[in-house]
Amino acid sequence: MDKRAQGFMDTIVSLCKRRGFVFQASEIYGGIGNTYDYGPLGVELKRRVKEAWWNRMVTSRDDIVGLDSAIIQNPKVWETSGHVGGFSDPMVDCKKCKGRFRADKLDEASCLERPSKHPGECDGELTEARAFNLMFKTSIGPVESTGSVAYLRPETAQGIFLNFKNVLESSRLKPPFGIAQIGKSFRNEITPGNFVFRTREFEQAEMEFFVPPPENDKWFAYWRNERRSWYEDYGIDPDRLRLRDHDKTELAHYSTGCTDVEYEYPFGWGELEGIACRTDFDLRRHSEASGVELKYFDPDTKERYFPYVIEPAAGVDRTALTFLIDAYDEETVEGETRVVLHFHPEIAPVTVGVFPLVKKEGMPDKAHEIERELRRARLTTFYDEKGAIGRRYRRQDEAGTPFCVTIDGDTLQQDVVTVRHRDSMEQDRVKASELAAWIGDAVRSWKRPARPRV
Ligand code: GAP
Repeated sequence: MDKRAQGFMDTIVSLCKRRGFVFQASEIYGGIGNTYDYGPLGVELKRRVKEAWWNRMVTSRDDIVGLDSAIIQNPKVWETSGHVGGFSDPMVDCKKCKGRFRADKLDEASCLERPSKHPGECDGELTEARAFNLMFKTSIGPVESTGSVAYLRPETAQGIFLNFKNVLESSRLKPPFGIAQIGKSFRNEITPGNFVFRTREFEQAEMEFFVPPPENDKWFAYWRNERRSWYEDYGIDPDRLRLRDHDKTELAHYSTGCTDVEYEYPFGWGELEGIACRTDFDLRRHSEASGVELKYFDPDTKERYFPYVIEPAAGVDRTALTFLIDAYDEETVEGETRVVLHFHPEIAPVTVGVFPLVKKEGMPDKAHEIERELRRARLTTFYDEKGAIGRRYRRQDEAGTPFCVTIDGDTLQQDVVTVRHRDSMEQDRVKASELAAWIGDAVRSWKRPARPRV
């Protein structure tokens, strides 16, 4: 399949709906602009993405711990962080159609007039650009007043800075160390789009790594490489990944460097994750504004200092979308089109399909017994006894299930099952009693199949 072809995103969107990855939110009421719900396969995919991130960033390391901070914080947090004053996009309004557009992205927007044109290309006059704050406002308590204003967090990072002292004191860590968090963030994006690539409600996976200032450059280089490797280790095509360093004009005034991990989407190169050097900006500002000392005291050197921060910040929805796009393939097999998602087995929503060859002769009972055993071994399974075996394989190919197990007459006589591999379509005979361990090994030794670059 030519991934550059027009309509490839439509193919992904329709697969997502058909197979239960992603649905339009509030669909029965006509939806609500660019907001999505995750269905049974989508929720598993996202859960796997988060687990893979957490395992690599927290569980497998002794220098990073986790956090789950509140979505609604004291509004002073966002004044101090600069989000109330500065977290805005330049917007213009069209005086004719009343549409509002990002002034810096007019070529990506289409106006509400039909046939649609880019804003300003019809005879409607555009206003001067004005700043539009991206934070969602709400109010706390029963009465709406300025005193009750609160915001939905636009990033998870600030919750980490707020808890720097708590974590330091309770975990006995010393720089270099990190605090990681996965959670929802909200931005009133004016130009959401490209399916779940840019939405108003999304999940972030962020980690703030606190380092002694002289070690800043060393750790920035380390996290740039480490984060790129993570995507490659989970099967993303290395030729569609690149690191893009921000030039000086793109950097926040306090930042000394920032690199995006970018992916080549069907709609062009786009940011998948940012790795930013935030210096001591956040800790220093929160310390000054709250009056609470947020410096680290090094008991060895007796030095007190604000650590510098390296921040790898990824989007969970964007990563899940990237895995879907990258895994998608269409092949011709026996004169028919086979749609297959070549997910890494640890990312695939379902790990094993379990099929009785026929719905009789005790095969369904045996298949259920084997399925229960696989579940006990914490493998995600899907039982299917409907239709010809070839059709059942195809359904699981489209869901990205890496292994399908068929229970036949030999299983009942000799305790052996057939395991069919999604990528090669080859089959192995495996002892039923050793199946869970065999699949565990196959998951660990999986390699991205060589696929022609399209
Ligand atoms: N704390 C730093 C921070 O929030 P960011 O580049 O604004 O940095 C980090 O966001 C990541 O969050 C992005 O690389 C992207 O993957 C994801 N992200 C940001 N805005 C998003 C949106 N509107 N929809 C989906 N994902 C988004």
